[in-house]
Amino acid sequence: MAAKTILICDDDLGMRDTLSAILKHDYRVLTVSSGEAALVLLREDDIDLILLDVRLPGISGFDVLRIVKENYSLVECIMISAINEVETAVQAMKHGAYHYITKDFDYDELRSLVRNACERQDLNRQVITLSAQVAEQGEREFLIGPSRHIRDIVDLVQKVAKLSATVLILGESGTGKELLARLLHRESGKGDAAFIAVNLSAIPHELVESTLFGHERGAFTGAHKQQLGKFELATGGTLFLDEIGDLRFDLQAKLLRAIQEGEIERVGGSKPIRTDFRLIVATNVDLDKAVKENRFREDLYYRINVIPIRMPPLRDRIEDLPELTRLFLDRYRTKFRKNVHGMSASALKILSTYWWPGNIRELENLIERLVAVSDKEYLTDEDLPLEYHFAKLDSAPSAQGETLFQEACDTFERNFILRALEKSDWNVTATAKYLGLPLSTLKHKMSRLDLRDIARKLRG
Ligand SMILES: Nc1ncnc2c1ncn2[C@@H]1O[C@H](COP(=O)(O)OP(=O)(O)OP(=O)(O)O)[C@@H](O)[C@H]1O
Ligand SMILES: [Mg+2]
Repeated sequence: MAAKTILICDDDLGMRDTLSAILKHDYRVLTVSSGEAALVLLREDDIDLILLDVRLPGISGFDVLRIVKENYSLVECIMISAINEVETAVQAMKHGAYHYITKDFDYDELRSLVRNACERQDLNRQVITLSAQVAEQGEREFLIGPSRHIRDIVDLVQKVAKLSATVLILGESGTGKELLARLLHRESGKGDAAFIAVNLSAIPHELVESTLFGHERGAFTGAHKQQLGKFELATGGTLFLDEIGDLRFDLQAKLLRAIQEGEIERVGGSKPIRTDFRLIVATNVDLDKAVKENRFREDLYYRINVIPIRMPPLRDRIEDLPELTRLFLDRYRTKFRKNVHGMSASALKILSTYWWPGNIRELENLIERLVAVSDKEYLTDEDLPLEYHFAKLDSAPSAQGETLFQEACDTFERNFILRALEKSDWNVTATAKYLGLPLSTLKHKMSRLDLRDIARKLRG
């Protein structure tokens, strides 16, 4: 494991040097002389433990402790207190400090205190990871969304989950097909039995057959030992065949036989093996069309098309977007231990006009990315990648095109100037120079884009 990073925050140089000398062999040690500097490092580095002086020149040790506990809950703090300030240090422990040392501390005592604090930090980290995993597993099988579409699908699941009939799930990629399959399995009454998912488009062609049917030892070069196929593994439970539209034509006949007869043979084997599972298949290709074009067997199509369920694309149920966004914000806030609690109404509005070709998976990936890089509590328009701002253009009738084009350009220009202002510490003259624009042009643009007030406020 990499060495833990310890931040020593004390305005007394002698104290910093002593602590650092004792700890630097076993830990990565950073030192600062003020609370302000400590907060900067907390933001920029990966700190595990802070040795924090109670009495600091600017922001007090107590305030730093409060900020740490609110924003970096995994960072442990050990307070350093003068001998006559023990009262304050004890107070700090009530507010989340791990312990305290007085300035006449014993070296061994310090070492063991630091070791224990680091162990506690590891434990806390494990607890969070585990509870995130549990939360993820527990939560994953719910179809979220207030839309009519989702409510109808949830109703249908209740009706058909316990039947043994094959379910065919149709829908564009990322619409929640696998999630639905898992939900059907859980509600089937056989939730404790296996749920075996096979993505047929992800397996190399030559391996599809042995993956599904299994093989005997020596059945082909490389078959060093017997292997059970997914059909056998799913016995008693559910077999989910994803991307069934990609199944090789000759294997479609074999699959049909296996489903109809409830029997398979392993590759290279000769005895029939009974199988018994609930079959759920999914595809994002138009199977009707594939049948017409002789790419998919008609008899297999009829055999699997018993209970079709279509997952609608996100753009057709955009009213689900706020709840889904909330779900993913919560999921990734926990996972990345971040502080992001929500998204502004206007950012949500921008997202609701987007086309979402990758559907819910795309939304999930976007939120994951935004949460991972954000240090804010609320995500706003400016956090959204440019393509989401431009999206309105794609779906808008052409008469509005020009206005939307202008809006998109303004958004881009606004973000660009904001970033330049930020870089130049909100000094407009410096920003103009940085952008290579005459000062008057920049000022004009800033008025037009409502940036003057912001710049004034931030400049203080
Ligand atoms: N209604 C929903 N509520 C909550 N989460 C959802 C919902 N729909 C989809 N998701 C989540 O979106 C992601 C994509 O869903 P899933 O993998 O089921 O889609 P898919 O249709 O199988 O996609 P692909 O075609 O790309 O395989 C998953 O993380 C899933 O948990
Ligand atoms: Mg899938």
